[in-house]
Amino acid sequence: MDRRVFRKAIERFWEIAGGVSVRTKILGIVLGGTILFGLTTVLQVRYALHQVLVARTQDWGIAMASDLAARSTDLVLINDLLGLYRLLQDAIAHNPELRYLFVVSSQGEVLAHTFGTGPEFPAGLIEANPLPSGAPYRLQPLRTPEGIIWDIAVPIFRGRAGVLRLGLRDTAVRAAVNTVTMWLLLTTLAVSALSLGIALVLTHLIVRPIRGLVAMTERVARRDFTARAAIWANDEIGALAQAFNTMVEELAQHEQMRAFYLQRIIEAQEEERRRIARELHDETGQALASLRVGLRNLEQTLDPDTLRPRLEDLYRLVDQTLNRVRRLAFELRPSVLDDLGLVAALERYIRDYRERFGIEVEMQVVGLNERRIPPTIETAVYRIVQEALTNAAKHAKCQRISVLLQASPRLLSVIVEDDGCGFDVEQTLRAGRESRLGLYGMRERAQLVGGTLTIESAPGQGTTIYLRVPLEGA
Ligand SMILES: Nc1ncnc2c1ncn2[C@@H]1O[C@H](COP(=O)(O)OP(=O)(O)OP(=O)(O)O)[C@@H](O)[C@H]1O
Ligand SMILES: [Mg+2]
Repeated sequence: MDRRVFRKAIERFWEIAGGVSVRTKILGIVLGGTILFGLTTVLQVRYALHQVLVARTQDWGIAMASDLAARSTDLVLINDLLGLYRLLQDAIAHNPELRYLFVVSSQGEVLAHTFGTGPEFPAGLIEANPLPSGAPYRLQPLRTPEGIIWDIAVPIFRGRAGVLRLGLRDTAVRAAVNTVTMWLLLTTLAVSALSLGIALVLTHLIVRPIRGLVAMTERVARRDFTARAAIWANDEIGALAQAFNTMVEELAQHEQMRAFYLQRIIEAQEEERRRIARELHDETGQALASLRVGLRNLEQTLDPDTLRPRLEDLYRLVDQTLNRVRRLAFELRPSVLDDLGLVAALERYIRDYRERFGIEVEMQVVGLNERRIPPTIETAVYRIVQEALTNAAKHAKCQRISVLLQASPRLLSVIVEDDGCGFDVEQTLRAGRESRLGLYGMRERAQLVGGTLTIESAPGQGTTIYLRVPLEGA
């Protein structure tokens, strides 16, 4: 139960502390700390000062009482009560800390006192501080309506001539302690005001860059990538601002690249459509048109000898058209890739490639024959190998290409190697991507399926492309 209440209190504290601004928190800590320190100092000083002053005042009172006792000895012995009275009056007139003085004879009778004339000697005062015989003095604090009064009793002529009693006020001690306390409190107030001012300046220095950062992130959220955080100092907040700026620069770059690729994808799509339209119009359309003309001509020919070669021509035309349409369909998206898998699709592509470019391609497959891998990886690998082979045909001037596909339970690795002229990879990639989409496309596709692509090549050394795709969890 107790623990739950405690936890609730802590939660409530965090709710409140979390709700206020950083500035308020810092100001609260500084102000709270200063005031706490000031108040504990005031209390300690007050206590210590009080102790010291009380001890010193009491010592002074005892010395004063002893001195008066010594001087009153003769007066008591010769019974000079007027002299005794004058002695006491004189002492009290010169020492405002003294509340009263009186002398009691050994018979317990008041010989002289300073309470004025009349019967106003306080009742019970004589008995309030009994002096044991032989004691040099006795001190007894008395609680009176005027405050604490220290009553000091000292013997006169070792007690044989009576006892001198002295009442000492604590007002001087209290006044001194209160004055010091007030000065300390004023000092605390001044120091608090000063530290409040310093804290205000410091929090301003801390909060200003943070506000700048917040404004900047809001701009970035609105896709304004020109926003940059000002770096005010070389501290942690400066480092944060620097990190923010780097992040925004990278975001801007990614955004730029994304826009670029989007543009290229749209262009490529349009180009592909144009190619298909041209193919359909120029090739397939032409072929079907000639087929139609040929058929109409056949209507008028009934002679079998002329009919046969013409029919042969038409068959060839139909076959050619069919082939063109098939290739077009295959290039767009080979259905074997979906139906029979990556290996079959690549075999089919390579067979076609050999015929078209007259380049010797050797493909080796390890650990994949019985296995289907996820379709996204299949498509990626297919397109990457396709681009590598197209590049080899377009740029490498090579005779032989080898393609190796190797699958382990966790990793698929693909190597495409040609023996062509090679190229400077770094320089090509650095030269800009305006016209070179192939290499970037390969890398992007590899990254999209969580893989890596490495290109090794140098002028005159041939080119090798390494692709590694993790199959774990795929
Ligand atoms: N196998 C290779 N042998 C020799 N040079 C190559 C090879 N592959 C690529 N290159 C060089 O790298 C450049 C970039 O290739 P990339 O595929 O990015 O662009 P591309 O083939 O010129 O155009 P795209 O692929 O966009 O139609 C090529 O222009 C070529 O100079
Ligand atoms: Mg290319």
